[in-house]
Amino acid sequence: PYESEISDLLARMTLDEKLGQLQQLAWAADTGPGDDQAHLVGRAARAGGLGSVLNLHGARATNDLQRVAVEESRLGIPLVFGMDVVHGFRTTFPISLAQAASFDPDIAEREARISAEEARSAGVHWAFSPMMDVTAEPRWGRISESCGEDPCLTAAFATAKIRGYQGAGAGRIPRDRMAACAKHFVGYGAVEGGREYNTVDVSESRLRNLHLPPFRAAVEAGVATVMAAFNTVSGVPAHANARTLTDILKRDWGFGGVVVSDWTGVAELVPHGFAADLAHAARLALGAGVDMEMVSTCFADHGARLLADGRLTADRLDDAVARVLRLKFRLGLFDNPYTDERTEITAPSAHARRAARAAAARSMVLLKNERGALPLPRDAASIAVVGPFAESTDLNGAWAGPGADAFPAVTMADGIRHAVPGAKIRCAKGVDPEGKDTSGIAAAVAAAEVSDVTVVVVGEPAALSGEGGSRSAVGLPGEQDRLVAAIAGTGRPCVVVLTCGRPLALGDWLDAVPAVLVAWHPGLEAGHALADVLFGAVDPGARLPVSFPRTTGQIPIAYNHENTGRPCGPGPQPPRYGSRYLDLDHGPRFPFGHGLGYTTFELGRPTVDTTALTAQALLEGATVTASVTVTNTGARAGDEVVQLYIHDPVASLVQPVRRLRAFRRIHLPAGRSTTVNFTLGAEDFGFWTNCPEGEFLVEPGDIHIHLSTGSRTTTTGCTLTVK
Ligand code: IFM
Repeated sequence: PYESEISDLLARMTLDEKLGQLQQLAWAADTGPGDDQAHLVGRAARAGGLGSVLNLHGARATNDLQRVAVEESRLGIPLVFGMDVVHGFRTTFPISLAQAASFDPDIAEREARISAEEARSAGVHWAFSPMMDVTAEPRWGRISESCGEDPCLTAAFATAKIRGYQGAGAGRIPRDRMAACAKHFVGYGAVEGGREYNTVDVSESRLRNLHLPPFRAAVEAGVATVMAAFNTVSGVPAHANARTLTDILKRDWGFGGVVVSDWTGVAELVPHGFAADLAHAARLALGAGVDMEMVSTCFADHGARLLADGRLTADRLDDAVARVLRLKFRLGLFDNPYTDERTEITAPSAHARRAARAAAARSMVLLKNERGALPLPRDAASIAVVGPFAESTDLNGAWAGPGADAFPAVTMADGIRHAVPGAKIRCAKGVDPEGKDTSGIAAAVAAAEVSDVTVVVVGEPAALSGEGGSRSAVGLPGEQDRLVAAIAGTGRPCVVVLTCGRPLALGDWLDAVPAVLVAWHPGLEAGHALADVLFGAVDPGARLPVSFPRTTGQIPIAYNHENTGRPCGPGPQPPRYGSRYLDLDHGPRFPFGHGLGYTTFELGRPTVDTTALTAQALLEGATVTASVTVTNTGARAGDEVVQLYIHDPVASLVQPVRRLRAFRRIHLPAGRSTTVNFTLGAEDFGFWTNCPEGEFLVEPGDIHIHLSTGSRTTTTGCTLTVK
């Protein structure tokens, strides 16, 4: 719809003005190396030499700068302000990994919508989110920003976030919403050893089957922008990867939006050993399909010479500029570039707080619950709340927005106090999150010994996850294992609550404690949400979006692995020459999809309508419907996540033992049943091959369908035959 305006502008722009639109500078340098560039921004905007600014927010501050671009530059092209609005702006929601655990994409949509309203009211137009890197790498700090190890779950959450940020479709983005950014394209979740920024080497089939599907879904959902990844993809840095950025993303999928580099990602082509110098880096990145450069200035510094030398075509330059202008038109910035300073949202509203609390409670995963340890009785006379995170506000997780400083998270102890005002609450830190000092353990044990029940809150500080947050070992940091073991050793009732940004390898204390709840980094309403789950106001219906390993050495361990020729089950006597570790029980400590509730559910036998199920029909758009009846067989209302997995037992490319293809979180009163229907098509039964360009196949043969409430706890299933 804006193409004639874009052509008109392009015809009037000088080369410098065109290159300027491709430049994004950082107001504050809090998300990458180097100094802030605030001193460069005003002059560049006035000269028409700047397209975008990141890390500036506030209606007044952004308007002031916008005024320079719009009223003092020759063509008056507005700036687009971007920021890492990842899981909240003023109102901090649970981290993305937690949101994925809810198996309820509506949570992500609601969060993104609230974040967009808050951020846009503060002059921010563009969220560098959703992050949609599929990853089974708990060592990698950025797993906290991901939706875990499954592409189907990731795609569902990513598209929900995009709807929340932008509104539906690929058209105009309303004035109370913002542009989204699908990142990081592509393969970042497979960094070797989980070490930040490390190399990625993926086969074509893994790239196509695991890493690309969420991005394709994002493009189909109308995502406005995509960010290139820091890693190489099989030897070619993602920022210079014409095959992924141009051939697949722009040509095959028809993406018409902006590809933005990551922070200095263009200049980093030099240390990667791919570009000889910064001019070469500019040529490679622009040529491969990067449209806007974040922080480094290779395009602006060298673009003119590249064009003069014929190393950059005028068409490619105009295409990049057109994409940036299209984003600004989509955001309505040419109609009104300014933000209403009177309506800036400066604090979380009651509505936003309620949404954050519900999101956090619906994200908590009950790993273990023996002897009815949970829910806790509301009439408990005394509760000890111990551990380094009992009274800590470090519960917001990595990439919390500006609201996190101004509005600290409700502590776990305060949430419990508020829920049971009549109970005596005793707090003791026990140990620091990362320290070596164990002298405080005695006080925590003393509190546990005289209380009816103890809630032990242990985990990771936010600083141990997020960008640059890789860890070589994924146990509880510091001496926290000793604290939990000491509390368990009292023999008194206790519950362990984990606040973390990654799956943790849990200590030997696991067998000694009756209940373990994963609260993740729950955000602003942490303590209230925890109390909602602990005392049973909310049934813990979340499930793991990523497997919890037994030890770090078992990583990567994902449910959707392929079988070996010597597969190993969880049986009591695994074979000597089976695919396993000699010193570990087989399989993860807790698999993807696992989670308990306070009631029980049963799945009936699924029925699948298989009329005319041929590979050809599927490829032409035919679908089948799988239906299953779910019954709440327990004594209280509760939530269940019905999970549909498939397995293709014989294929021309070895297939994962399970692939999640659909899921639904349901809520049922005690004794009630409901029928859940899932529609499946070619995408669910087929797979991409390893041939150089990737080929999508649906092969004739049997397909096993497993309906379950966990990736390894098959409850019921059936076999389909594709002819
Ligand atoms: O958006 C982020 C990206 O995910 C990692 N590097 C910095 C960018 C901007 O803050």
